[in-house]
Amino acid sequence: MRSAGPSARPALALLLLLAGAGASAAASPQAPPLFNVSLDMAPELRWLPVLQHFDPDFLHAAMAHIVGDNVPKWVLELIRKTVRMLELFLPKPFIGEIRGMCDALNFQLADCILLNLVYESTAFCTSIVAQDSRGHIYHGRNLDYAFGNLLRNLTMDVQFLKNGQVAFTGTTFVGYVGLWTGQSPHKFTVSGNERDKGWWWENVIAALFQRHSLISWLIRTTLSESENFEAAVYKLAKTPLIADVYYIVGGTTPKEGVVITRNRGGPADIWPLDPLNGAWFLVETNYDHWKPVPKGDDRRTPAIKALNATGQANLSLEALFQVLSVFPVYNNYTIYTTVMSAANPEKYMTRIRNPG
Ligand SMILES: *[C@@H]1O[C@H](CO)[C@@H](O)[C@H](O)[C@H]1NC(C)=O
Ligand SMILES: *[C@@H]1O[C@H](CO)[C@@H](O)[C@H](O)[C@H]1NC(C)=O
Ligand SMILES: *[C@@H]1O[C@H](CO)[C@@H](O)[C@H](O)[C@H]1NC(C)=O
Ligand SMILES: *[C@@H]1O[C@H](CO)[C@@H](O)[C@H](O)[C@H]1NC(C)=O
Ligand SMILES: *[C@@H]1O[C@H](CO)[C@@H](O)[C@H](O)[C@H]1NC(C)=O
Repeated sequence: MRSAGPSARPALALLLLLAGAGASAAASPQAPPLFNVSLDMAPELRWLPVLQHFDPDFLHAAMAHIVGDNVPKWVLELIRKTVRMLELFLPKPFIGEIRGMCDALNFQLADCILLNLVYESTAFCTSIVAQDSRGHIYHGRNLDYAFGNLLRNLTMDVQFLKNGQVAFTGTTFVGYVGLWTGQSPHKFTVSGNERDKGWWWENVIAALFQRHSLISWLIRTTLSESENFEAAVYKLAKTPLIADVYYIVGGTTPKEGVVITRNRGGPADIWPLDPLNGAWFLVETNYDHWKPVPKGDDRRTPAIKALNATGQANLSLEALFQVLSVFPVYNNYTIYTTVMSAANPEKYMTRIRNPG
């Protein structure tokens, strides 16, 4: 993977301008494109306007590469055989959206379903929720993943519209209908980090047939349905999932910040902000917060050091972005960084990292 030193950026900006790569990309080379997806349209149709902005050949190649490298052959065979049944089991809006995109691109439905499953497995991430001295809540995340050069080009911010108004916002990859990062304006923000207890395809497929939710679908459903921070935490803690995960949730008023450590069946632990006792931030990477991190992958201590150095009084979305830019919190696998604050929804900001 090529590193992107500061000197790489002007060249990239120029390339993007020359290529006419789209208005938002040209204005700021590191911002992903922003699209509206209208939930007022039928699930099968609502993503089609987004697809028009991407080269179908590139999407074919990306799909073949990501599914081919991640999915064991027996899983592919099994899903292909059971796809008609799975269609009935999977929740309507999601399967309808996947089917709609898949038909438009002339892909096999089983492959599109698998594409929506593979991202659940190997993401390494850092999420932080924190409260400044005036009681404002900030939330930031890095999403780290292999296949960076493909995924950077597939990353987008999406505003989901209901009745023509922005109902919630998220960051995702083209073709992927779930969200790992999102915001319900003036209510709460959510991010998900992988909790790697061994990715067992057997367990995942079994849970899928028991109608457990995909991790990223629950984030999207919560953003769409939950009325406030407390309701969101409850839903994210309780709903059965196909795999373990950490959900990080930020609210709008003091003390509204939490890391939920999830087992498939329910919560393993709930860890809240406790600013009155000095815990003005929570850092979650990919390990249970009550255990030490492995020596070979300590992104937790550098993040804590950077937050300590910032100081609660100086916390802001910009400062949080800087914390998420400290090595190795920010590393060669970082695809994007998002910072957000539900009380100021217009400040939602994603940047593609390691561009070029
Ligand atoms: C990140 O990528 C650069 C350029 O390929 C390389 O020199 C560097 O060693 C990588 N860093 C890590 C920690 O792998
Ligand atoms: C990603 O997009 C950039 C800019 O449009 C392009 O130069 C690059 O080749 C693309 N990468 C892949 C893997 O398609
Ligand atoms: C998205 O929809 C909102 C609300 O209707 C509108 O204000 C905005 O201009 C739209 N943005 C894009 C990129 O289409
Ligand atoms: C961060 O600051 C807290 C409170 O002063 C201190 O207990 C902790 O050791 C510091 N952590 C790091 C990694 O610097
Ligand atoms: C906040 O930043 C100012 C400079 O901008 C610095 O003097 C001060 O020490 C910082 N506060 C903390 C608690 O680190």
